Amino acid sequence: MSSNKIVLSTGLTGKGELTTISTTVFPQITDNQILLRGVAYAANPTDWKHTVLQWGYSGSIVGSDASGIVTQIGKNVKGFEIGDYVSTTLRGNYSIDKGGFAEYVIADPPTTIKYDKSTFSSEPLPVGSFPASIINTFEGAAAITLSLSTVGLSLSHSLKIKPTKESNSSKYILIWGGATSAGIVAIQIAKSVYGLKVITTASKKHHEFLKSLGADATFDYRDSNVIDQIKVFAQGKIYYALDTVSTIETYQQTYDATAGSPTESYDNLLFLPREAIKTDPENKARFSGTIVYLANGEPQELGTVVYPTQELLDDYNQFWYELLPPFLKDLKTPNLRVLKPGFESANEALELLREDKVSAEKVVFRYQS
Ligand SMILES: NC(=O)c1ccc[n+]([C@@H]2O[C@H](COP(=O)([O-])OP(=O)(O)OC[C@H]3O[C@@H](n4cnc5c(N)ncnc54)[C@H](OP(=O)(O)O)[C@@H]3O)[C@@H](O)[C@H]2O)c1
Repeated sequence: MSSNKIVLSTGLTGKGELTTISTTVFPQITDNQILLRGVAYAANPTDWKHTVLQWGYSGSIVGSDASGIVTQIGKNVKGFEIGDYVSTTLRGNYSIDKGGFAEYVIADPPTTIKYDKSTFSSEPLPVGSFPASIINTFEGAAAITLSLSTVGLSLSHSLKIKPTKESNSSKYILIWGGATSAGIVAIQIAKSVYGLKVITTASKKHHEFLKSLGADATFDYRDSNVIDQIKVFAQGKIYYALDTVSTIETYQQTYDATAGSPTESYDNLLFLPREAIKTDPENKARFSGTIVYLANGEPQELGTVVYPTQELLDDYNQFWYELLPPFLKDLKTPNLRVLKPGFESANEALELLREDKVSAEKVVFRYQS
């Protein structure tokens, strides 16, 4: 094998022009990485934003979520074997040799999950829509990893939630945007790993689904009095708040809905600083913005170079290696929308996200040689 088929960022922003298919040299892993042969891929909002908002580089490999089969293992890596079924998340649209939408994908162990083959089917899902299920296909595995890594970093480090279920059992977390991919995972992790009660917001049509994942109360974010509804329900018991939508409006709503609660920490996923919203200057809570790319331990260029702290890595690694594994087998993916196999589907997947046509689901597609 001497080459690698990839989806390349074109640097163009017109409809259907974000990506093109190309080939590049076969990737070389370091002693700390593994290589997988890609089987399925999932699209994330960051994939189109990296191009359109110029967070990434044209000529780099697109894609942040992939699943596949391990083909090479760096000599320092423990816990993986050739032939393992895995999924991984990484920063796409940023590098010419490392990206998700590739025939061969370089993976970092701290953002890679290994699956139990006895409960996993390697058969492809046909084109179409599928309800949320446990992670038992390559499509489902691709669909969950970036969200899981993000939520793990947010809850363990940004929000600083202690994994003490007994003392959390009467506390609420507010998850704004329960139907986002991040929200769907956050509801389950907040409940199962941390033992919190969950309040979330989403369109009414998703309320039953989110309750089935563990949400205790669901509110329609389109209701004009949604903030008052949440405050009345919560009765001053919201200790943590995560805004997975992360506009200035939703971050403000998230903050406002916690009025009267002893909220210890607020987090968002789009780098919004506290100053972006109106807050009580006396409020001593922690305000943060989670950056999932830091989870693999590497510094990231985000306008300025951001370095992961040791505390961030300790919190995240405790989540990833100790807290998460017992719950992985019960975790549900978002609903899946499976597109035609082949890298040609990357453009369609990214456009669906850019046009806001993705609702409580993940858009996925398979490799086709
Ligand atoms: N910083 C990081 O490390 C990081 C990591 C992951 C994601 N992100 C960012 O986080 C955001 C979410 O990503 P994602 O992939 O999880 O999203 P997604 O699945 O694409 O989100 C789609 C969902 O957003 C919900 N939504 C839209 N507006 C809403 C509002 N005002 N209130 C509540 N829900 C609303 C919709 O819910 P309904 O269907 O109910 O209308 C829809 O189902 C994106 O901006 C992404 O770029 C950042």
